[in-house]
Amino acid sequence: MTPDEIVELTKKHNFFSWSAQGAVNPIPMAKAKGVYFWDAHGKRYFDLNSQLMCVNIGHGDQRVIEAIKAQAEELVYAGPGMASKVRAEIGRELADVTPGDLKKFFFTLGGAEANESAIKMARAYTGRHKIIARYRSYHGATAAAITLTGDHRRWANEPGISGVVRVFDPYKYRSPLYNEGDSDEAFARKCLDQIEEVIMYEGPHTIAAMFIETVTGTNGIIIPPDGYMQDLREICDKHGILLICDEVMAGLGRTGAWFAVDHWQVVPDLITMAKGLTSAYMPLGAVAISKKISDYFEDKVFYGGLTYSAHPMSLAAAVANLRVMKEDDIVGNSQRMGKVMAGLMDDLKAEHPSVGDTRNIGLFGCVELVKNRKTKEPMGPYVGASPEMAKLGAYLKDNGVYAFTWRNLLHTNPPLSVNESELREVFEVINKALEITDAAVK
Ligand SMILES: Cc1ncc(COP(=O)(O)O)c(C=O)c1O
Repeated sequence: MTPDEIVELTKKHNFFSWSAQGAVNPIPMAKAKGVYFWDAHGKRYFDLNSQLMCVNIGHGDQRVIEAIKAQAEELVYAGPGMASKVRAEIGRELADVTPGDLKKFFFTLGGAEANESAIKMARAYTGRHKIIARYRSYHGATAAAITLTGDHRRWANEPGISGVVRVFDPYKYRSPLYNEGDSDEAFARKCLDQIEEVIMYEGPHTIAAMFIETVTGTNGIIIPPDGYMQDLREICDKHGILLICDEVMAGLGRTGAWFAVDHWQVVPDLITMAKGLTSAYMPLGAVAISKKISDYFEDKVFYGGLTYSAHPMSLAAAVANLRVMKEDDIVGNSQRMGKVMAGLMDDLKAEHPSVGDTRNIGLFGCVELVKNRKTKEPMGPYVGASPEMAKLGAYLKDNGVYAFTWRNLLHTNPPLSVNESELREVFEVINKALEITDAAVK
């Protein structure tokens, strides 16, 4: 098939996500290695978004590919009620890196299912119904996960499940609670006071869980100010509310730690994960469950299950992926390259008037673009694209950089295996590309 035939036939019979079907324009992806992928024309792209922030170890790692092949030879499928060698191994490999007493895992096919399952566990454990979530969040596209989701992707899926209450985010750059010069602790306190007020009005005894992305992903890499996570843990404990951290995107090395909560030494009651768990070599999600919650289910039934829960092929990819992460010190590399990225971000901010703010923790980053630094007028709207942002995205694509741009955000989430010269190479292209948004500065 020619590249055009691939695109045409793909579009003819495939229904794409989050899109008006007539508007999709997919790249005919042909092969991938390391931080790069190639289209069917032979054009090379730097994968600055690790596809969907998920190919954490980089593309085409032979060690994971071989493990998948070997598992296919040994045992392709076992029902979710079975034990198997690979199922025994994954528990040990994963428990080795999860924080505190989160040492039991329920395996799903992806992040949304992990979040659905976490909600069920929290409601059953607490006997309470409500869940507090935040506005600048995405938790998945299934019924409960999209209701938890605070961003506009929820709107078309409403009313959704009952009992979700939303609070505001610790979004320093735009929060009306932040005053120039406030310390992290002071800003955290104000955010948490507001959350405590919501808890009081809702009735703490009605709230099962606080459900947050530890570091917010697609809604703009919002890094909690120091003290926020620790004090949120205390508030939850005070009221018997579970703390559930969605680390589907932030987990597995993305932030320069195995889990983002590790930066603040906070142990949630449940962590949900997916993406980097297999580096997307196979589909897999998981809920990491604390001892008190797994103990609760020792003599009570968990009413949840999936035909492909703990699928051996996915588990084999996860075991091999975790071993690669450990062998290659992928988490350490994410931390070290995150520092390089922070320096490159500072350079962008110094050079480009359209850069309002830059944020990154490890290799989880974004550039927030504005038309005016004083008014912080966004370069693109909350929903939809501005001509400037569309032009920026097109320039990057034309120049061989695959990046996630939307609203007024340019995300920088390369594979965690990236090296310094690769990082510098891609930031050079970004540096040129930002002349487009600079031209729109008023
Ligand atoms: C923070 C977060 N939670 C949940 C999900 C949903 O995961 P999945 O698409 O695997 O269902 C995503 C996906 O991007 C995510 O970023």
